[in-house]
Amino acid sequence: PSGFVLPWGFGVNLPPIPSLLCQDMNNLEEGVEFLPAMNSKKMEKRGPKRRVVVAVVILVFLLVSLVVGLLVWHFKYRNAAVRKVFNGHLRVLNWDFLDAYENSSSPEFIMLAKKVKSTVRDIGPYHKETMITAFSEGSVIAYYWSEFLVPKYREESLDQAMANKQSLVQKLNTRLRNPVLKVESVVAFREYICMFALHAKEGEITTFTTPGFPNSPYPNNALCYWTLRADANSIISLTFKTLELEPCTDDSDYVKVYNSLSPVEPQALVRLCGNYAPSYNLTFLSSQNVMLVTLVTNKEGRFPGFKAEFFQLPKMKVCGGVLKGERGTFTTPYYPAHYPPAMDCVWNIEVPSRKNVKVRFNMFFVLEPGIPVSSCTKDYVQINSTRYCGERSQFVVASTTNKIEVRFHSDQSYTDTGFSAEYLSYDSSDPCPGQFTCNTGRCIDRSMRCDGWLDCVDGSDERSCTCTDQQFKCQNGWCKPKFWVCDNVNDCGDNSDELQCSCATDSFKCDNGKCVPSARKCDGKDDCGDGSDEGSCTGLQTTVSCKEYTYKCRSGHCVSKQNPECDGEQDCEDNSDEDNCNCGIRSYTKMSRIVGGQNSDGGEWPWQVSLHVKSQGHICGASLVSESWLVSAAHCFQQMQGTSYSDASLWTAYLGLTDQSDRSNANVQTRKIKRIISHPYFNDYTYDYDIAVMELQSPVTFSSFVQPICLPDATHVFPVGKDLWVTGWGATTEGGSGSSILQKAEIRLINQTVCNQLLTDQLTPRMMCVGILTGGVDACQGDSGGPLVSVEASSRMFLAGVVSWGEGCAQRNKPGVYSRVTSLRDWIQQQTGL
Ligand code: ARG
Repeated sequence: PSGFVLPWGFGVNLPPIPSLLCQDMNNLEEGVEFLPAMNSKKMEKRGPKRRVVVAVVILVFLLVSLVVGLLVWHFKYRNAAVRKVFNGHLRVLNWDFLDAYENSSSPEFIMLAKKVKSTVRDIGPYHKETMITAFSEGSVIAYYWSEFLVPKYREESLDQAMANKQSLVQKLNTRLRNPVLKVESVVAFREYICMFALHAKEGEITTFTTPGFPNSPYPNNALCYWTLRADANSIISLTFKTLELEPCTDDSDYVKVYNSLSPVEPQALVRLCGNYAPSYNLTFLSSQNVMLVTLVTNKEGRFPGFKAEFFQLPKMKVCGGVLKGERGTFTTPYYPAHYPPAMDCVWNIEVPSRKNVKVRFNMFFVLEPGIPVSSCTKDYVQINSTRYCGERSQFVVASTTNKIEVRFHSDQSYTDTGFSAEYLSYDSSDPCPGQFTCNTGRCIDRSMRCDGWLDCVDGSDERSCTCTDQQFKCQNGWCKPKFWVCDNVNDCGDNSDELQCSCATDSFKCDNGKCVPSARKCDGKDDCGDGSDEGSCTGLQTTVSCKEYTYKCRSGHCVSKQNPECDGEQDCEDNSDEDNCNCGIRSYTKMSRIVGGQNSDGGEWPWQVSLHVKSQGHICGASLVSESWLVSAAHCFQQMQGTSYSDASLWTAYLGLTDQSDRSNANVQTRKIKRIISHPYFNDYTYDYDIAVMELQSPVTFSSFVQPICLPDATHVFPVGKDLWVTGWGATTEGGSGSSILQKAEIRLINQTVCNQLLTDQLTPRMMCVGILTGGVDACQGDSGGPLVSVEASSRMFLAGVVSWGEGCAQRNKPGVYSRVTSLRDWIQQQTGL
């Protein structure tokens, strides 16, 4: 029987004979040749009769094999059926929506469902079952699932046929009776299914979770649907309270939310995977009274899942409006929740007639996946004829009249947090009283003009400058502080500050600026004096003779690769470079984008420790480096004002803490200190060797909020100019008070020689300078002992420094000073065994 009819009139393509069968036959043929060869002598003696028998036996054997092969193919490959589930929706024309269609047990629902089913049922020979899941307004839209049992080798053609809307529409239309159906779309899916229908209750919040949450992880190979509904003229607000799925990859588990009851891409609002910090904005709004949440999981990896809640809100009648006065604020609808799809808002802003108006966007997140900011074809903000989209830092749009029109458009799919903006009136003759006006309209401090730093995004503050005596004139006209010349960092942007100092063509430039002949690079000798000519000799991860700058494997052999520890690659033949690498990774892959300027999220810096002294509260920071050990600064444990801070019993360590006023939070672990070991060479005058280790009285339990930071090897190189992060609860201004929420700041590693000049020769090899020389970003009092971390290979974070001292805080040309962990690494190892 070869009369296979493909669904919907597709041509029949018989599959090629499965390759396994061909293989079997080949093997048999080989056997036939082999046998006579082995027994050739005996066979010749026995004569022709014997030969006939052998030939018959072989023939019979061949025939039997062929039949067996065919049977195997028939049952195993041709008849093996795969269960396939498709879903989609149909538009039923000339039919009015009744309220009763919302209730799947009403006679009206059942009646219409039967009619739709009969139309969908006979669309193909492998069709098994169709289920009508819902109806919604729009004449009537019917949402359905169809299950097929299809032979494995027909699977692809079924997928193709289902994906081919046109043929399906035709097929259905030829079978039309009453009601008149028109197919809108079809989507294919797989196996395990669960489904929930929920309706918002007036004034109530409805909660739902993935199956088993929070006690057991969600199932594998699952497809779960939650249809969410609200009353007519309402919209739905959905918030994921916690969400923890498989880490994101191309085919990882995901949750997708749709602004529809049908899972069709043009109506998708968001696709979520991985795990999200508790403060991440996961609130989404629909544009109508329906929403669909789906969970799709693959065959590996089970994770906790999510807990979500939703409620209904009256539909917004107008969006935008007329704004008058000297100044005011406005935001996208429901900010900071994700704005609803399919919105159009217009704000007509008008300030008093003698003034001009400008709009400053303080927060701006109008990002649509896959849309370049140069086109802004989907969601955008439009002012005059310019469109803005994507994720932007603060920007200003100014008008040369007293009026400005701001338009906001969101399309059917993918929404974002939106914007928060203010409008201000200004004097056209003096748009920034007492300040410098960037060409973009932004106002900046006058001292920022011609200081060598781009403060206006368009660089207008650094144009047409005359450089002072202390400045170097870059080729592009910018003025940069002279001490930046030849520091190995491209400060001009065109590299002109590093040109006159580059080494001769046949020589290599060391990290410390020295030039050595190229031939001496990677020769196993430290010609630079800082090891940089021997640092990145890639290609040969072979054993080299050990030097103080080469990484030493546990075996005692040395490798030439720079920073081989925990980079995800085996560099030592005993793999010891990848041992003890359970560190430096934060549990949350998605951190909040909009929580305050420099406030940290819970779980963002899980190695950060707050050290408290009885009745004095937070005194210093520290970093968790294992279950039982902390690294901090020795100066935190000095004798002071009659208190012996070196007494371990005075101290309490708080781990997993973000907010000092919320120390009883369930994620916080509190430990007493068993002992404090300060570096014996610590000098309380110079702050040389400012390091200490502390042992906890009992080990902590690692969690999403408590994780250790990686300790770099003594040979680890953090290059000058690298961006590092410092965190702490210290003062937020010089002489100011500490912060309740853990703060974070991104700062740059500064050349040792340059910094030693700036800080009048106070640096020792155990110190390093990190900061922003324009000032404004720094650690400060109360941050001491805390971590300075670097993101290294395979996105692990390493402890590069420990907050130590500074001249004031955040002053210009006075970067913060940190204990250099690499030069104190051996001592840490001796004390802790780590
Ligand atoms: N010694 C200070 C403390 O005890 C830390 C100072 C850091 N200062 C700086 N400007 N980076 O907290």
